[in-house]
Amino acid sequence: MKPQIIVVDFGSQYTQLIVRRVRENNVYAELVLPENLEKHLDNDNLKGIILSGSPFSVYDDRAPVVDTKQLAMQFPILGICYGAQLIAFQWGGTVERGDTREFGPSIISQFEKPDPFIQGISLPWKVWMSHSDAIKKLPEGFEVLAYTENKILSIFKHKDRTIYGVQFHPEVVHTEHGTQLLARFLFEVCGCEPTWTPAEFVQEQETIIRNLVGPQEQVVMAVSGGVDSSVAATIIHKAIGDRFHGFFVDTGLMRKGEPTEIMEAYKHVGLPVKLIDARSEFLSALKGVTEPEEKRRIIGHKFIEVFEREAKKIDGARWLGQGTIYPDVIESAASGSKADKIKSHHNVGGLPEKMNLKLIEPLRFLFKDEVRKIGEYLGLPDTILKRHPFPGPGLAIRIIGEITPEKVKLLQEADAIFIQMLKEHGLYDYVWQAGVILLPIKTVGVMGDSRTYQYAVALRTVLSTDGMTADWARLPHEFLAQVSNRIINEIDGINRVVYDITSKPPGTIEWE
Ligand code: XMP
Repeated sequence: MKPQIIVVDFGSQYTQLIVRRVRENNVYAELVLPENLEKHLDNDNLKGIILSGSPFSVYDDRAPVVDTKQLAMQFPILGICYGAQLIAFQWGGTVERGDTREFGPSIISQFEKPDPFIQGISLPWKVWMSHSDAIKKLPEGFEVLAYTENKILSIFKHKDRTIYGVQFHPEVVHTEHGTQLLARFLFEVCGCEPTWTPAEFVQEQETIIRNLVGPQEQVVMAVSGGVDSSVAATIIHKAIGDRFHGFFVDTGLMRKGEPTEIMEAYKHVGLPVKLIDARSEFLSALKGVTEPEEKRRIIGHKFIEVFEREAKKIDGARWLGQGTIYPDVIESAASGSKADKIKSHHNVGGLPEKMNLKLIEPLRFLFKDEVRKIGEYLGLPDTILKRHPFPGPGLAIRIIGEITPEKVKLLQEADAIFIQMLKEHGLYDYVWQAGVILLPIKTVGVMGDSRTYQYAVALRTVLSTDGMTADWARLPHEFLAQVSNRIINEIDGINRVVYDITSKPPGTIEWE
């Protein structure tokens, strides 16, 4: 896939948002680090370059740069915040250092000049900008299109070339008409075509996959019932038909009834997926294990072992399908050296080398919400598209301490009540993720006339957009009371329910 727009990632926290906003206009864009830009320019589809913001100042020694004079000879350019300052600086203007990093609203109440870039944008216009460095004097050949009410130079252009700069962030939702402004850059300035649609994407991926996979070659893939692997599998299957072989591994650590529900959903959409019942294998491998990372390691290894055993039965298996998405692979200047690994997330890493398989990852360049849209287009049911994220190790990391079949059963029952009630009360789609944690302690209670001494569970529900940060969901007390009553009354073995009110950070979503 060749992008029409490249967003150069100078490290601002909003760089991915710029890409998303461009794609919302049906124009395919990719994020590229400045040092890699050169090799992405040889692309006939490329219509324009957007330079992102940055935590750096143009005066910093380590400030990331690209040669905007060189670039402007080939492509229209839009600089955003730092990107705009970089243009001003490199062409001979003056950028003044600011010492605050404050981010807030400003108003543009008039335009200095009409221009196709800003045409049709209604005034007064609220925009969000960081009040750090500011352009004090434009270079020769440039002109101002707008100041804010407090006289900050906020939009400029080159008089003869298609070079634009905005001091504010059109990509953040707080900036009014931000998507409209980007659309004007894409369509009026760069002449992009709105061709990036689910239909186009799927068709393109099918062609790519058909060209990759030889006529006798087979693709194997582990699917989880989650949106990413299901959408990826559906595309691969559409491309090569029965040379696609899906496997769903039942680890015994899924939610109550989930394997059946998932297999039915796959059957319903005609995706060939084989169920592998590995419940007892996983449980015996986890016997006596209490340490979270050890649980993950064992489950990861077991998963590979089970999957490999099945995949080896497929003659001609040369490819491994995976539901990898953009945030998993993005080379991000913002994160610099990859953030410390807090928890090792399990996947089938290591398998391709071991089995000598090549990877097919049709969603490698998509954001999660785009994957959902593609899933809708492909007709996948809501049970898959709207399913909450669920950790690969499953209930193993929601049973604190040792895992036993009895504890799995208890937790599955409690979790099923909670999830069912969230759905009944219209709260399931409101929260980002929900689950129950089985605690390794027993507490005293009273049921009727008798004393009980049973397990305590914690309910965990969070609001989030990507799982990186999360807030605990303020669910109605009355609802929580009903959940608690049902769990304690209906499940023999649990006599206490608590609600987790920890956000992330400092907590994590899962307890282990
Ligand atoms: P944490 O607990 O790190 O979770 O705040 C963030 C998101 O990741 C999920 N998670 C996992 N997913 N394997 C997975 O596939 C894992 O080992 C794992 N640990 C946490 C968690 O459910 C949440 O959505």
